[in-house]
Amino acid sequence: MNLKGKTIILGICGGIAAYKAAELTRLLKKDGADVWVVMTRNAKEFILPLTFQTLSGNPVYSEMFSTPPAPPYKWGERGAMPHIDLTKKCDILLIVPATANIIGKFANGIADDLLSTLYLSVKAPVLIAPAMNSNMYASPAVQENIKRLKGFGANFVEPESGELACGDMGEGRLAGPDKILKKVRQLLSVKKDLKGKTVLITAGPTCEPIDPVRFISNPSSGKMGYAIARAAKMRGGDVVLISGPTGIPVPSGIRFISVSSAADMRREVLKEFKNSDISIMAAAVSDFSPLRYSDKKIKKGEKKTITLELKKNPDILSEITSSIVNRQSSIVNPIVVGFALETEDMIKNAKKKLKEKNLDLIVANHVNGFGSDFNKAIIIDRKNNVEDIPLISKEELAEIILDRALRILSGKD
Ligand SMILES: Cc1cc2nc3c(=O)[nH]c(=O)nc-3n(C[C@H](O)[C@H](O)[C@H](O)COP(=O)(O)O)c2cc1C
Repeated sequence: MNLKGKTIILGICGGIAAYKAAELTRLLKKDGADVWVVMTRNAKEFILPLTFQTLSGNPVYSEMFSTPPAPPYKWGERGAMPHIDLTKKCDILLIVPATANIIGKFANGIADDLLSTLYLSVKAPVLIAPAMNSNMYASPAVQENIKRLKGFGANFVEPESGELACGDMGEGRLAGPDKILKKVRQLLSVKKDLKGKTVLITAGPTCEPIDPVRFISNPSSGKMGYAIARAAKMRGGDVVLISGPTGIPVPSGIRFISVSSAADMRREVLKEFKNSDISIMAAAVSDFSPLRYSDKKIKKGEKKTITLELKKNPDILSEITSSIVNRQSSIVNPIVVGFALETEDMIKNAKKKLKEKNLDLIVANHVNGFGSDFNKAIIIDRKNNVEDIPLISKEELAEIILDRALRILSGKD
């Protein structure tokens, strides 16, 4: 694929690697893209706007409160509100190089210049290529901000290791322009095959209260469900995410429902699943909850042991599949995907769960995947096809799960 017909906003920040954005501009133009450059005020300390104006063939924007550029420029030339005007036709927002400063501003919603304000109003995918000194890159603040931005759905081209401009060795060198171009092409070729489809996803753990200060839960991080939600959104789906408590930022552009207990989860899923085309139940819902809830904090007392009696929670998966009419006889909406977390006999147990709960697909994964960014899984469908997925990122696994669910939905399986 080339970038013909694509409109790219290229944000350039005040780092020593700003000069490399010139080569990237040339490559993007050569590939057919219409490139509009926005420079931070500090970026202009490193390289002149004239370079980008010449290479892109478009005016370079930098100030929030400037006058519009002279004709014959077209897009974005209204000028009175460049932070909005510029984003209207944008297919992707690229930030190359991204400074620690801009990453911090994006991650925290600070909008004190044109580029950071424009970031908040852009609806298109965002690709960020950081470049900085290795100590800066490794600092907890920068790493936390990157994590936060990834949670919002931003894409990253990670910096490379090597000799840095300051003379240090380490991770922080801007990824090569070729690599960035490849990632741009990849992001812009994302299929919009979920357009018009509603995807319901559950994620995270549930918390079953014992008393006002204690609960039973599990270590589910929610990463898998959130990765599916982000991927479904990227592919054009209308996404509803019902989530137990996690530390992950809510992806932008989706409908988010926050729950705590299995009972909350059940109530919301039963409300939502009928309106979905695909329901992906990735939450780790507690199988049990305390039989009795104490509305006062249970005192430690003198006894060495206490007994907590548990009751079984309703099985949400079985409940939704059994309420779908004619489920056995034909392919009907919604497609229901379940997850099985196993410590042993993964395939055997997953097949049993698929059958008993009348699912379309089951994703079986090992307990080791808890909290990790990676997962090794087995996907089994109704026809007992078993697909062994090697250890891959949860983002990649999310795409595969959506591919398989869509294939069933469109009746190809
Ligand atoms: C010579 C020099 C090189 C710099 N290189 C970088 C860099 O590579 N990455 C970075 O994050 N900051 C770098 N800085 C610091 C930024 O310029 C500074 O944080 C600035 O506020 C960034 O502004 P901006 O994000 O609005 O462009 C550098 C500063 C100087 C003086």
